[in-house]
Amino acid sequence: MAVAELKCPVLPLASGCSIPVLGLGTSHQGGYSHDAVVHAIQSCGIRHIDTARRYGCESLLQKAIKESGVKREDIWLTTKLWPSDYGYENTKKACLESCERLGVECLGLCRSIGVSNFLISHLEQLKEDCVITPHVNQVEYHPFQRPQELVDYCRRRDIVFEGYCPLAKGEALTHPSIIQLSKKYGRTPAQICIRWSIQNGIVTIPKSTKAERIEENCKVFDFTIAEDDVEVLNGLHDGRHVSWDPSLVVFCILI
Ligand SMILES: NC(=O)c1ccc[n+]([C@@H]2O[C@H](COP(=O)([O-])OP(=O)(O)OC[C@H]3O[C@@H](n4cnc5c(N)ncnc54)[C@H](OP(=O)(O)O)[C@@H]3O)[C@@H](O)[C@H]2O)c1
Repeated sequence: MAVAELKCPVLPLASGCSIPVLGLGTSHQGGYSHDAVVHAIQSCGIRHIDTARRYGCESLLQKAIKESGVKREDIWLTTKLWPSDYGYENTKKACLESCERLGVECLGLCRSIGVSNFLISHLEQLKEDCVITPHVNQVEYHPFQRPQELVDYCRRRDIVFEGYCPLAKGEALTHPSIIQLSKKYGRTPAQICIRWSIQNGIVTIPKSTKAERIEENCKVFDFTIAEDDVEVLNGLHDGRHVSWDPSLVVFCILI
């Protein structure tokens, strides 16, 4: 796949920045592959990478980004802090440490501010304590977990909704309706899940440690899922979480 083939749209954020709708997830679960990240940037045209201090791969990403030869300013990087970093000074310090590990001067110190796993109640509480509305909210989103009320709330407040675990950690790939649609469209189940998420206006960050799967996951901009099939996928929501349930959390934060 040549870089020019990835025609990934961007979504404007209230911060003035634009975020590519497709990103590459990284994680402490399931391993990290240097070669796969380099391939994603260099050969698949990925320009958005999601990480977190907790994933333990910020300094590995520094090496992969350097080796890819793509300029820092052309790559959207998200990292996340941990609840132990709460508080103004702690957050600033943790951001600088993340910058150092990632080998970047800035995440601006942060150009855009996001939260993760914030439900409406958390965002309402934040309103009372903060003057800046977060630019992004990163939340679990896949065919079995489509929190539409939260998506609508974020849209009304100009908060871009970013969906993690778009493949439901692989669980969605064997669902009969998804397999049926994958046959109908001549696409893989992963491509159906990613395309559906993007068509629903969600910034989508599938993770793979395998170069060939990353290529597959990027080939989602040359077909459209018909509206009635989007509805079929929308109807698969059963509320299950494959990551964790933020309704059990009193409060949490991202960069
Ligand atoms: N903010 C948060 O609390 C939070 C929580 C969880 C995740 N995240 C972010 O979201 C990203 C994605 O979430 P996730 O990794 O948990 O779940 P996911 O992207 O839904 O699924 C990843 C799993 O699917 C496999 N996979 C990927 N592409 C595939 C394909 N084309 N065919 C078959 N299997 C495929 C991967 O295995 P291989 O690696 O072996 O390909 C991995 O086991 C994470 O990397 C992280 O950046 C954020």
